[in-house]
Order: sequence, then structure tokens, then C-alpha cells
Amino acid sequence: MTEQTTRANDAAAARPTLSGTADVLPVEATEAIARAQAVSTGGIHPHEVLLSARAANIKQSAVRDVFEISMQPGLVSLAGGNPYLQSLPLAELGRVAERIIAEQGLEALQYGGGQGLLELRRQICAVMAEEGITDADPENVVITAGSQSAQDVAAKVFCDPGDVVLIEDPTYVGALNTFEAYQVDVQAVAVDEDGLVPAELRRRIEEITAAGKTIKMLYTIPSFNNPSGVTLSPNRRQEIVDICRGANILVLEDNPYGLLRFDGDVQAPLRAGNPDDVLYLGSFSKIFAPGLRIGWALVPAHLKQRFYLASEAVTLCPPSFNQMLVSAYFRDFDWKGQIRTYRALYQDRCQAMLDALEQHMPAGVSWTKPAGGFFIWLTLPAQIDTYPLLQQGIDAGVVFVPGAAFTSVEGPSNKLRLAFSSATEDNIREGVRRLAPVLAAACSGN
Ligand SMILES: Cc1ncc(COP(=O)(O)O)c(C=O)c1O
Repeated sequence: MTEQTTRANDAAAARPTLSGTADVLPVEATEAIARAQAVSTGGIHPHEVLLSARAANIKQSAVRDVFEISMQPGLVSLAGGNPYLQSLPLAELGRVAERIIAEQGLEALQYGGGQGLLELRRQICAVMAEEGITDADPENVVITAGSQSAQDVAAKVFCDPGDVVLIEDPTYVGALNTFEAYQVDVQAVAVDEDGLVPAELRRRIEEITAAGKTIKMLYTIPSFNNPSGVTLSPNRRQEIVDICRGANILVLEDNPYGLLRFDGDVQAPLRAGNPDDVLYLGSFSKIFAPGLRIGWALVPAHLKQRFYLASEAVTLCPPSFNQMLVSAYFRDFDWKGQIRTYRALYQDRCQAMLDALEQHMPAGVSWTKPAGGFFIWLTLPAQIDTYPLLQQGIDAGVVFVPGAAFTSVEGPSNKLRLAFSSATEDNIREGVRRLAPVLAAACSGN
């Protein structure tokens, strides 16, 4: 067992057990909570000793557990960041899917090229151009099983155990899980309300390098960070890339939410002016359909072959039928209109949540005010651990994700994430109303 795993288990064991669970929840939910607490309930199977050190580092995602819990009827879930698919033209998409199988079935159901369909790679370049990446060559696009899989390939291609990856604190839990699986030394860089702080990035690079460690990548979500909702300000963007270039650190830019800026005035990604220094990850999950599992990497030309071969080694090829369906959607449907619909919908939901927070939250609780994306990040007084509040929230009929899921720093977190993407405005208001007394009691020490 690695030192990191031991610390993780210690931290989990130190967490208080959620009480009263069996009385109010069915057995699956109880098990899910137990997994979220990383409490082992069964005996140890002999196969345990066969596991790799890598596998020991892979943890059950707390978000996944909370997601299972939030399926319980009567609970308002502000936990999962699901896109609101109800506004997609489902009947028409069904007819397109049928036509693809009937008319192009031999291609749709067959293996395809490892890099993905050329037509879709061209369309991906058009999607990226909407955000300001105007020089992307379809040759350097690798289609992957969601951008999650592209993160995995990036970690595999660049990181040996012990290598450092810099991250924002907080950051996306799926990326933390990926880096832990590759036994990466994840090191946090401070952020403020304008995103990564350049001076802090410089300081951390000096400090880590002086300690004799090798920093391979900066993993960053510059627009509408999951979980914080914070966006890196335009005047810091080039500086961040320049600092990394100077230190020979590759920037891994994860941008699934960039087009979902409420006012439509999207900001150029870090990749826009920096084709050689930034490995860019994109996704159709938030602007179309996460279940199709189609994302992509736009890879610097000199690294494309390495990345593509590693990706092919995992999946052989991205799913042919799903690529054809995504391609048909972007060819034949008003996808830009759909993005405008999403922007307006998420803006209204975000505003409903901000208004409800303003109305109900006790003194001492603060929160971010995102300009896009899916999430708001709450900060409670420093002494409060939001993890035990999860059960109290469930008892009050609302689910959120405790902040500890989104940081590499061990120990309690006084933060929590609320998602406004998938609940209706009424449910958002009701969820925040239910959450308020739980947080008020915590703030007053009861
Ligand atoms: C920041 C970030 N990156 C990547 C992903 C995963 O996206 P995909 O569905 O394309 O794998 C998510 C999903 O929530 C995310 O929030």
C-alpha cells in the first residue's frame, strides 16, 4: 500500500459515520454511502494481494455515490452535473439513428479508424472555431470516449509514477481519480475569483523544482471550473501559458463548458494562440449528449502520433455509430441554436440558485457567481467539515457534493458544490430552502 493510499484511508476512517442511514434509505443507498466513506464492509478476498499499486490508488468517486443516493424519490438533487437533455429534439434524433443503422449499418456497426471519423474531426474543428481556435487541423484531432478518456491517455503518455501534475484547487474529481491511478504526485496551485494566480503558479513551480521533482503538466479548467464555477480572466490566460512554456510544462486544458457562457461572449481558450504548448480537451457531453461518450483531444502536431497510438491501444477506435450520430447532429440540426437554448436555460437556473442562496443562506456562508457552466461553490466557516452534513442534507431532503471530493489536499473541507444544470428552477429553490437550516445549524455549532 502506498503512503498516499494509507493517508487516504486514514482520512476516510477519521470521518464520522453517517448516522441513521438504515432507517431512512434503502440498502443500495446505504451501501453507496458506505462506499463514499471508503468504509470496507466485507472481508478481504485473496485476490486483494494480486492488485497493482495503481489499482489501489483508484477510489470510488464520491460524486458517483452521491449520484446514486440522489435517485431516491423525494430528494432534491443539487449534486450531479447532468446536462438537461429534455430540450434536445429526441424524436428527430431517433429517426436519424434509425436511418444510420438502416442505410449505413455496415459502417456504423463496424470497427473504424483509431483517430475517429474524418468528417466528425472536421466538424470538431468548426466547433472549436466558435470559441476562437481557428487553426485546428483535423489531422491533429483524436476522438476519444469522452474527454475523460482523453485525460487518461494524456496521463498515460506523459506521467511516470511520482511525476508532478499541477492542478487548480479545487478541480474536477474525475481528473483527480485519473492522476491518482497513474500514481501522479498532484500538487495544487492557488486560485482566486479570477482563476489561477500567475504569481502562485511561478512560486509553486520554483518550490517543486527545487525539491528535485519533475513537473509534467498543468491540468486546468479555465472556463467555469468544475466544481467552483470560476473562470480564468482573459488577462491572465497568456501569462499562464508563458510561465508553463518557460518551465517546459505542458498545459492540459480541459474545456467542456466553454461554449456555455451565459452571455454568449465566449473567451478564447488557452489553446487559441498556443498550438505547440497546449493539449486541448473538448467534449460533446455538455453541449449534446454525455451518454454517447464522444470527446476529443486537439494535440500539438509533434505529439499527435504518441497520443493517438496510446488512445488506440485502449479502445482500438471510438464507437462508430455514436460518432455518426454526433456527426449527423452537427450537420443537420441547429446545434448553435441548441447552445443558445442551453445558455438561456442554465442562466435562468443559475440565477434562481443565486437568488435562493441570497434569500436563505445564514451569515458566514459565501458562494461563487459563475458566468457559465453548471456549478456554484459554497464556502462555510473554516471550522466546519461539510462531509458529515451530507447525511443531514439527505435527512432534510436535499443532496449536494461535499468539497473534499474535489481537492488533492487531505483532511476536512469547509466547501460544497451545488449543480444548477439538471434541476428545475422550482426544485433549485426548494433544494436551497431545505439546505439552509442544515448549514445554519452547522454555522451556529449545533
Ligand atoms: C471538467 C470536466 N472535464 C471532463 C468531464 C468529463 O467529460 P466527458 O463526459 O466528455 O468524459 C467533466 C464531466 O463532468 C468535467 O466536468
